[in-house]
Amino acid sequence: MRIPAFLAALSALAVSLPAAAETPAQLRDAFVLQAKAANPAFAGPTSDRGRAFFSALHGREWSCATCHTQDPAATGKHASTGKAIAPLAPSANPERFTSAAKVEKWFRRNCNDVAGRACTAQEKADVLAWLLAAK
Ligand code: HEC
Repeated sequence: MRIPAFLAALSALAVSLPAAAETPAQLRDAFVLQAKAANPAFAGPTSDRGRAFFSALHGREWSCATCHTQDPAATGKHASTGKAIAPLAPSANPERFTSAAKVEKWFRRNCNDVAGRACTAQEKADVLAWLLAAK
């Protein structure tokens, strides 16, 4: 895809944010476009990389799975408050990945807790590919 097409797709998404709800596939596709813009060699997200990223430690005490479990369809438990966290997989929880603002907010917060930095667009695309594939 040519660069102007990406930018058009990204800005179209940004403009539509406050008005319309998103779908999980739209959000994944937006992360894929961002990842390709950052690295033209990016060949597309993989569910295997997403699962590996989610279960691994990234230099801190918690992995994503610490709170969300390794099973995207399972109810998680917050590592410090003990509160239940509804499943992340859209197949188990239709509310997931329907708000770009919510998704960005929680990626920002959770990636910072787990890795001490923001997640890259590729990491987000991979995690979404894995969560979307979960039954
Ligand atoms: C300390 C516990 C904790 C850790 C660790 C954690 N999360 Fe979360 N996560 C939460 C909580 C709490 C919420 C918000 C409550 C909810 O939406 O059920 C949340 C929500 C999310 C959402 C929002 C999805 C949506 O559309 O509703 C995403 C995406 C997410 N987490 C991904 C991750 C990823 C990726 C990691 C690892 C980098 C991670 N989380 C690590 C606790 C955690």
